[in-house]
Amino acid sequence: MTQTSLSPPDDGADRAERVEHSWALVSIVILALLVVIAAFAALYHGAMPQSRVETADPRTLHLGGEFIESNLGSALEPDGTVTVRAIGQQYSFTPSCILVPTNTPVTFRATSADVVHGFLIDGTNINLMLVPGYISSLGGRFDTPGERLMPCHEFCSVGHEGMWGRIKIIDKAAFVRMAAERRRLSCVE
Ligand code: CUA
Repeated sequence: MTQTSLSPPDDGADRAERVEHSWALVSIVILALLVVIAAFAALYHGAMPQSRVETADPRTLHLGGEFIESNLGSALEPDGTVTVRAIGQQYSFTPSCILVPTNTPVTFRATSADVVHGFLIDGTNINLMLVPGYISSLGGRFDTPGERLMPCHEFCSVGHEGMWGRIKIIDKAAFVRMAAERRRLSCVE
């Protein structure tokens, strides 16, 4: 059998280089796009990297400090805002049902007692990573009463898919009444 060739034999190295170049161009375009998005977020939305890092030793969470069990749940602050403190651990959240009022600024503060977990409130943009050793904090606000799921969205080993909690949003007046009787609130039954 004879081989005929109409064009000069293609040099494999040349072709590889052309393909390399086009893929390199694709990655440069993606990088440039990310830089533009970051610049837009910083300049237009005022988004900044976290200015400080708060730590919490996962080995002693249960012994004292902010995340001791008696301090977990929702607290009504003197300025009328609410602070929710929670812990994620394989494979649950404490408290497993978080109670918050409507139309109130709520600050979530949470950490992990073991591995990395996710903290996500369904249907909202509240989405945190709970990293052992660090405190994650994010503000939110809920307009309408109701109940939402709070699944762990970070694979945290074999029980991951069973790790989820709930958040119950109740009328502000009812919340304030309950807060007058108890220091920390939750909807764990
Ligand atoms: Cu915790 Cu997945």
